[in-house]
Amino acid sequence: MSSLLRVRRAQSPLKGRVRVPGDKSISHRAILFASLAEGVSEIEGFLDGADCNATCGVIRALGIEVEAPSPTRRIVHGRGLEGWRKPTQVLDCANSGTTLRLLLGPLAGRPFTAVLTGTPQLCSRPMGRVTVPLRELGAEITGAAESTRAPLTIRGGALSGLDHRSRVASAQVKSCLLLAGLFAPGGVRVTEPAASRDHTEILLASMGAPLVRAGLQVSISPPTSPLRPIQLEVPGDPSSAAFLLVAAAIVAGSHVRLERVGTNPTRSGLAAALRSMGADLVESSSLDLSGEPTADLVLRQAPLRGIRLAGAEIVRAIDELPVFAVAATQAEGETVIADAGELRVKETDRIATTISELRKLGAEIEERPDGMVIHGPTPLRGCDVESHGDHRLALALAVAGLVAEGETVIHGAEVTGDSFPGFAETLARLGGEIVEESS
Ligand code: S3P
Repeated sequence: MSSLLRVRRAQSPLKGRVRVPGDKSISHRAILFASLAEGVSEIEGFLDGADCNATCGVIRALGIEVEAPSPTRRIVHGRGLEGWRKPTQVLDCANSGTTLRLLLGPLAGRPFTAVLTGTPQLCSRPMGRVTVPLRELGAEITGAAESTRAPLTIRGGALSGLDHRSRVASAQVKSCLLLAGLFAPGGVRVTEPAASRDHTEILLASMGAPLVRAGLQVSISPPTSPLRPIQLEVPGDPSSAAFLLVAAAIVAGSHVRLERVGTNPTRSGLAAALRSMGADLVESSSLDLSGEPTADLVLRQAPLRGIRLAGAEIVRAIDELPVFAVAATQAEGETVIADAGELRVKETDRIATTISELRKLGAEIEERPDGMVIHGPTPLRGCDVESHGDHRLALALAVAGLVAEGETVIHGAEVTGDSFPGFAETLARLGGEIVEESS
């Protein structure tokens, strides 16, 4: 069902403490890896969003029982590395690039044929970055655009070994190949140009996988004993926390506390960028959850100034760049986002869509091939804007609406449930004037 978000300019500061939903990347991995373990895994704080539920769906279609006793709890009855069965239906990854790319890894090691597909949006995203190295490793893959686009047909089997230097810093590529490495007698080594998120390494190592990390290199080989099941509490998603942090950073007088958010250094680029801009953001009550660091994030509004964000910092903030651009519209001076060409192959071309929608609100932004330049501070004016089917864009526009004159209406807002179910209620609890309506 399609919906829209109506957001009014905040008349008072955002205040209070809230929790954000569980981490999307970790939720996907927990289900997928647990299905490869031998025994029963229990996952608390699971992200009950469309993308992660697509992962549950395909894992079930591969013959693994996944129970959902509550929206945020999953119980997975893993049957070991050889436990996936030939699916009797096409594996529908919906709109989730993480589901499709990670799934291809273990499928490369299984001796049956599977077909993977998803929304037209997913089928337009580049898959050659995983299909090319998987074919080199020994998997048979065919698909659209010379096997670089879904739908993809994969037949796994006898794999060799692989030493792969990835052109892009992508955790999806790295994770896909490491998962294939669990089935590759010759082992798999992946080297990245910069450090992408390392949730796969943390979780697989905790399950007993023989994984070795050395700087930007990770190696893995088939385990000599079964992977151990997991008992996991998923941290709050820093990519979802980002929307509330920016909201509090731009609404005058705000003071918010976001509880138990993941603070993994490979994900904390937005927090670091906000601090460089002048935000008063501190961590307290640090707690380790199964190898993943978490903390409460406490932000008090303070004036922001423009900065340059580039290089490895972009990788640490890749999903937060649309909302970072919103913060930049309210910062004094120029903000430059560079080296962010990967944004063009996310759920949408996020350079183009972020610029087109923020311009409608009155933002002054110049487009660059690999990013954008934002001039601030700019007064924004509420109007009708479009999500383009991109959850992170819809959420970023809702945050912009908090400082835009009058009312901002975000169309196509149903996608916010991909990563942040309950966003409108959570923001309203902090004092934001926001409602979701069906459209
Ligand atoms: C993800 C990795 C990132 C990120 C995506 C989730 C993951 O993609 O943008 O939202 O869970 O591994 P890339 O690995 O393609 O950069």
